[in-house]
Amino acid sequence: MRFAESFGGWVVTRHSEVDRVLTEHAVFSSDELRYSAQPIPHGSNPLLRGLQAMDPPRHHAVRRIVSQVFTPRAVASLEPSITARVHALLADAGERFDLIGAVAYPLSVHTIADLLGVQPSRWPDFVRWTEAITSFFGTFTADEARRTAFHQALKEMGDYFREEFERPTGIIATLMASDLTEDELIDFCALLLINGHETTKTLLVNAVLCLTSRPRPDDLRLAVEEVSRYLPATGGTDRFVTRPTMLGGRELRPGDRVVAMITAANRDPEVFTDPHTFDPDRTPNPHLSFGHGIHFCLGAHLARLEVRIALTALFDRPWRITDLDTHRTPVGIDVQKVTVATNPGR
Ligand code: HEM
Repeated sequence: MRFAESFGGWVVTRHSEVDRVLTEHAVFSSDELRYSAQPIPHGSNPLLRGLQAMDPPRHHAVRRIVSQVFTPRAVASLEPSITARVHALLADAGERFDLIGAVAYPLSVHTIADLLGVQPSRWPDFVRWTEAITSFFGTFTADEARRTAFHQALKEMGDYFREEFERPTGIIATLMASDLTEDELIDFCALLLINGHETTKTLLVNAVLCLTSRPRPDDLRLAVEEVSRYLPATGGTDRFVTRPTMLGGRELRPGDRVVAMITAANRDPEVFTDPHTFDPDRTPNPHLSFGHGIHFCLGAHLARLEVRIALTALFDRPWRITDLDTHRTPVGIDVQKVTVATNPGR
């Protein structure tokens, strides 16, 4: 563990220490605005003050309501529609396609839009809004045009949901039973798109990267867990120290920022044998890619299901990657484009 000026905080890499930071929420708070000695500028954005940035008791109350949307049963009931969506996307994509644009991106956005009860005729709007929102958050230096597109997308999405609140059905009705204000509800829906879409898209792309040129794994559940461990869709997450504590032999003070590096914890040799080897049959696999403790990812079942269904459909036929375009960012490798050819021998 070390203090990194570039992160403005303590970078925690051992599995046991990352796990402690994630689970001891009374010592390591998620509420940056309340506890951070130096909140980062975008900390004032209301989108980032969603569930993920709340501490108990508020977190507990809100999570109890919204988790009804994501129960294993509710998610399992989406399996037929996700399967149909995957087959339709693959059929439209043809025998040579851009995995991100033709499959991963629409699959993840349409699934969340569907979950939120959005009519299919409005899904293209959701794709557009999500693009504007995530491309604003995805850059380290957002320019003016992106900022404007981001605010415009939030406004249009807000208008859309305000209309839905007039005649609430399904999940929107469930969410309205919480004591969230209308603005908080809209933020929560936007947060689902941001949290759920980029990460699920990345997990599917990473699964294709890991599994190309390999036979279909016997157990796709284990394989998806191993992709999550080996190439996590989330690099790490922040916490803020609430009271003096020791971690990794260092003395942490209230207000200190702690960056729990999930990528590093997932390759800790004290927990994983051959941590740098991708083993699709690895079990047990206590990776931390979906977090741990009270903030454990609400969409984990959904993301796993979507990726498993997409892989099952892809492995119905021979396939391979024919083109790969990546670029390096300050925090890792960004996959720009993956071209997949099915029935490549024909
Ligand atoms: C929380 C990762 C997909 C919604 C989290 C956290 C992680 C994570 C690491 C915990 C953050 C923390 O403790 O600070 C991922 C990954 C995904 C994924 C790797 C896909 C591969 C999704 C999806 C949704 C979603 C599909 C929703 C549709 C959320 C929400 C939280 C969360 C609402 C906050 C939960 C809370 O604070 O109680 N996710 N996520 N995620 N995730 Fe995901």
